[in-house]
Amino acid sequence: MAGARSPYPGQVSSPIPDLAALQALGPLQQPSYPDRAAVDTAVSRLRTMPPLVFAGECDELTDKLAAVTRGDAFLLAGGDCAETFAGVTADNVRNKLRVLLQMAVVLTYAASVPVVKLGRLAGQYAKPRSSDTETRDGVTLPAYRGDAVNGYEFTPESRIPDPQRLLDVYHASAATLNLVRAFVTGGYADLRQVHTWNTDFVRSSAFGQRYEKMADEIERALTFMQAIGADPDEFHRVDFHSSHEALLLDYEHAMTRIDSRTERPYNVSGHMVWIGERTRQLEGAHVEYFRHIRNPIGCKLGPSATADDALALAAKLNPENQPGRLTFITRFGAERIRDGLPPLVEKVTAEGVQVAWVSDPMHGNTFEASTGYKTRRFDDVLDEIQGFFDVHRALGTVPGGMMVEMTGDDVTEIVGGGEEIDEARLAHRYESVVDPRLNRVQSLELAFLVAEMLRKA
Ligand code: PEP
Ligand code: CO
Repeated sequence: MAGARSPYPGQVSSPIPDLAALQALGPLQQPSYPDRAAVDTAVSRLRTMPPLVFAGECDELTDKLAAVTRGDAFLLAGGDCAETFAGVTADNVRNKLRVLLQMAVVLTYAASVPVVKLGRLAGQYAKPRSSDTETRDGVTLPAYRGDAVNGYEFTPESRIPDPQRLLDVYHASAATLNLVRAFVTGGYADLRQVHTWNTDFVRSSAFGQRYEKMADEIERALTFMQAIGADPDEFHRVDFHSSHEALLLDYEHAMTRIDSRTERPYNVSGHMVWIGERTRQLEGAHVEYFRHIRNPIGCKLGPSATADDALALAAKLNPENQPGRLTFITRFGAERIRDGLPPLVEKVTAEGVQVAWVSDPMHGNTFEASTGYKTRRFDDVLDEIQGFFDVHRALGTVPGGMMVEMTGDDVTEIVGGGEEIDEARLAHRYESVVDPRLNRVQSLELAFLVAEMLRKA
């Protein structure tokens, strides 16, 4: 079925390749399961499960990302590097959502642009790794590949890839998304709650106080609007979408369904899915899978990406050149963004290719602290975003948004920021199982600083 052509030039028709056809392309970063039959059983079960998202919701997000592409909206994407099953608790999900809502309101109010809100959540359970194995004190075991694959605990039993976990991903995602949907439509995201999103801890920080002032202004504006009889629906609910890296083809393929309305395939495990930096080979299995689904999709681009790579990916992933369909998420690192990004943006723009450009200021800025913790500097994160804005401003193109790794808790995983977390303090509360995340004060601080960049548009 692969490569079936529709009557429309450049458009791929509905059916997606069989899982076996994708596997035959040798997808990278897949687990080595000891028992393939058990994987097939899990995949068959997943194929019977209800969708987590609807095709129409995915199309709505595509429309919003088209606005991002045009420069009429800014994308705020955030969440954990890797969600964990243990992290599926009401507190954890609410805290994360609360900070994302705060960041979004800061960006919207301070920069007067609509913000498209996207969670890296409800499906972000599988991780690409630079090495297949991990060695500790002379003992070598399979690397942790995310809760979707194996356990974090460093024992032989826990590190064996277990296909039952694919079903656990489905259930964990369903529980998370259910809670998120309840929060964003059930009153919690009502703009009149703008003060309550600011928790005690945040309030005592300098940026928390700045937020309080802004929330006062918003409240006054809302009271005024109400007094004149205006109370639009938008004050009471927000649009929020889910996203994850579609890495494990067994899972993603099993969660792909033909939409009855349009007869086109959608990945129904998340609204937006993206291709990681390590699996974006043009002839690879991931690109082959992604080009068939109709969700809005992202593709990471790091320092090794050339302008021709970007063009070839866009031609294959978005042959109709539909705005909103494709987002390039760039992650060069603060030191390389100003030199590395311009050739890509220039050529892609010159060719008339429609993409949203979004900055991932995290993955090019990771280093190991003297204390052994994997960390990032807040200033590098900020500087990469500034570089991203500078490049787009210089070229007259659109800095469309950012995707950050953040949490709603008071963790100490990233050094710097207003709280001045130093390397010694990382040990205080380092909880991430993979990459370091901005804590809630750092996230809020970043939102204020990026709002300033946006305002200077
Ligand atoms: C990620 O977003 O967590 C990730 C692994 O990024 P990248 O593919 O850009 O390395
Ligand atoms: Co990460």
